[in-house]
Amino acid sequence: MWGLFAKVAKCLPAEAAHRAAIVTLQHNLGPRPARLTAKVNLKVSVAGLDFANPLGLAAGFDKNAECFNGAMQLGFGHVEVGTITPKPQPGNPKPRVFRLPKHQAVINRYGFNSHGMDAAAQNLQKMAAARTGVLGVNVGANKTSPAPIDDYHRAVARLARYADYITLNISSPNTPGLRNLQTKQHLADLLAAGRSGLAEAGLDSALPAKPIFLKIAPDLHPGDLAAIVESCVDAGVSGIIATNTTLARPEYLDGAHAAETGGLSGAPLFEAATAILADVSRRSDRRLGLIGAGGVAHGWQAYAKILVGADLVQLYSGLALQGPHLPGQILHQLAAMMDADGVSAPDQIKGQIVDPAAAIKYARALCEKI
Ligand SMILES: Cc1cc2nc3c(=O)[nH]c(=O)nc-3n(C[C@H](O)[C@H](O)[C@H](O)COP(=O)(O)O)c2cc1C
Repeated sequence: MWGLFAKVAKCLPAEAAHRAAIVTLQHNLGPRPARLTAKVNLKVSVAGLDFANPLGLAAGFDKNAECFNGAMQLGFGHVEVGTITPKPQPGNPKPRVFRLPKHQAVINRYGFNSHGMDAAAQNLQKMAAARTGVLGVNVGANKTSPAPIDDYHRAVARLARYADYITLNISSPNTPGLRNLQTKQHLADLLAAGRSGLAEAGLDSALPAKPIFLKIAPDLHPGDLAAIVESCVDAGVSGIIATNTTLARPEYLDGAHAAETGGLSGAPLFEAATAILADVSRRSDRRLGLIGAGGVAHGWQAYAKILVGADLVQLYSGLALQGPHLPGQILHQLAAMMDADGVSAPDQIKGQIVDPAAAIKYARALCEKI
């Protein structure tokens, strides 16, 4: 049945297929991953939170917190909803999302289409009791906001009580000026706004503390990365999500949609995002939690991200291109690879090969043994 659903979805325009997937998961219809047979334990603890496994659904799929419970049933140990903006906004004109199946890639310029924080809060409250995994709430600024940093404060203050962790997303390429918040000069103010949002919600000094993660772009210079890591450590940020979509276009990218404006994700992002993750890992030296995103569609890719230092791994494009069996498959591949490597928990491989090319080579070779 799911094979048929995936085939039908592929015939729909990308945004219609996205909507169909949300409705399906809202009704909790989706394949359940088979029980793991390998003798490994995939549990992970990061920032004081316990995750059943390291794999999560990245932000952008469940933008309005409508189907996170159904998504968790696909096998994800955590789901990050959002990006949620304080006020509702329509996003960019359609079409604004494109599949590039030949390249296993997606280009999107959704532009933070959001029902706004009040609608999201209602959904989060309604569905809280049925939740089975860790929930992240990813927030951003409205496109026409006169004071974008205040938007982060407002969204955190409104939504933090429903979240296990909060992500400040300053790396979407589709909101003009947003990525400028990644510069050192703005970062301290942004992170302070996140903290003051928690304080307004009465959660800043709560125990356990509510973790804040920062989501960064893959198109940063090494100098920017150094400043981001140090600002995060100084501000008490719990983790960095590396990375969002890229503005870069590899030369080999061709086909009908290759020239569309927007952020590129999926397979062409994998190596660059893993390199940025490795760089953040080296610079943060275990002072921050690390979440690797970008181009994961197989267990070996998740394995490589953990090898360079990720605690958790997220994906989105793989799900859109391959369908709802993907998370279960990746968990099985990950467990089998750990078994073949003689390790029993993800923490035992985390940060063991910091050179990204070497980590990718190792993970690929290990995958061939399973
Ligand atoms: C269609 C689409 C919409 C996205 N929307 C968001 C978003 O609203 N907020 C966000 O932080 N990231 C968003 N992302 C980025 C993903 O969360 C992820 O960081 C990126 O796509 C890399 O992972 P992937 O290669 O597995 O897709 C979006 C990605 C896609 C493909």
